[in-house]
Amino acid sequence: MKEILIAQIDELFDDNLIGSLANTAAAIKMQLADLNWVGFYFYHEDALWLGPFCGKVACSKLPLQRGVCAHSFLEKKVTVVNDVSRFKGHIACDSESRSEIVLPLFAKEKIIGVLDIDSPLIDRFQADDIALLEEIAKLISNHLSGHHLKVS
Ligand code: SME
Repeated sequence: MKEILIAQIDELFDDNLIGSLANTAAAIKMQLADLNWVGFYFYHEDALWLGPFCGKVACSKLPLQRGVCAHSFLEKKVTVVNDVSRFKGHIACDSESRSEIVLPLFAKEKIIGVLDIDSPLIDRFQADDIALLEEIAKLISNHLSGHHLKVS
């Protein structure tokens, strides 16, 4: 399953970057159990802005001062929150979310945004899925690095 999802996401990338990211969010949400929201936020002018996603309507702009996405972005580290009610400053876009993982994304080694994944279950993200999602985030970063993006 793991190899199939990685190969599928690799295949999804083409010249249509927004479409490729939208399909990637959909593929993750379809293939992994118990997820309610999968999507991207990209950095621009001191905030994280909503990109392609799969799930309910979400916050369009996240501040860098609080929240799991900003934490992961500023630390440049994968952040796993087993119970969002215990993360000070957590921003609840979808009230169904109970646990969350945020993975930083890089283009040519420069941080440009995050992949944010929410679950309605507490403690949803364990070592096997964390490792898989880290591989997926690296793959996405490789594709972003190859794209002619304006990185601000
Ligand atoms: N929970 C995130 C906000 C984004 S939504 O979950 C889609 C955060 O605390 O940064």
